[in-house]
Amino acid sequence: LFKKVIVLSSIDSTADFLARDWKKLAGVGRVCIAEHQSAGRGRKGRPWISPFGANLYFSVGVELPLGLSALGGLSLAVGISLCRTLNRFADNQVKIKWPNDLLVDDKKLAGILVEASGDTTDNSFLNIGVGINWNMQLDQGEAIDQPWVNLKDYVPDTLSRNQILESILIELDKALREYLQGGFTKIVDAWPELSAMYRRAVTIHLPKGLVQGKEVGIESNGALRLETENGIQIFHSGEVSLRKR
Ligand code: BTN
Repeated sequence: LFKKVIVLSSIDSTADFLARDWKKLAGVGRVCIAEHQSAGRGRKGRPWISPFGANLYFSVGVELPLGLSALGGLSLAVGISLCRTLNRFADNQVKIKWPNDLLVDDKKLAGILVEASGDTTDNSFLNIGVGINWNMQLDQGEAIDQPWVNLKDYVPDTLSRNQILESILIELDKALREYLQGGFTKIVDAWPELSAMYRRAVTIHLPKGLVQGKEVGIESNGALRLETENGIQIFHSGEVSLRKR
């Protein structure tokens, strides 16, 4: 799916770089990798701290024959692909926090930002941005509002950032193709072993308040299942966030 790879030493945001020339290169899958971002973006409009040379920052832009309504599941499929790839190197220590944060020991290792435009049924442009903490110094990550870890501390010393990125892209390409062919059932089945919060007590933060419960899996469209005192409730991503209690 990825036909063109652009490597930059510095950019405002790899996501914005790809978004700017969507039209010119519509239909051509592209990857943009940068060593530094001056305006890296996280979910919910938060900044993504992106010091030079310390981490991995990249975005993948693809046009897929999928409507926007299929994207909740796709964003999980991306998270699961990344989690599995990193687990090959990191001895299965990487887990997913729904919808697509990657954690080790409950601390943030990587974040994924999926942005899309298109129509609800047939077609969409996807902009998948991934930031992975690799070897960030404590002072560089000081402003991060939650505990975090570096991937380098969990993989063999001989492994390079480039080798990891190569594997991630190969596997992501496969995962997207599989998803297009309806391979989501496998993802639902894999969830319990990969989820950082499976069967744990969590709180869902909605714009209007909180819901407490126990995470009990995902639906085939990627929505989260929570066992609450009022029975099973289903949550879609978007403005929802999940925290451990
Ligand atoms: C999150 O909030 O967890 C998602 C973080 C996503 C960060 C990546 S870094 C590469 C790409 N460019 C951006 O500006 N953001 C994403």
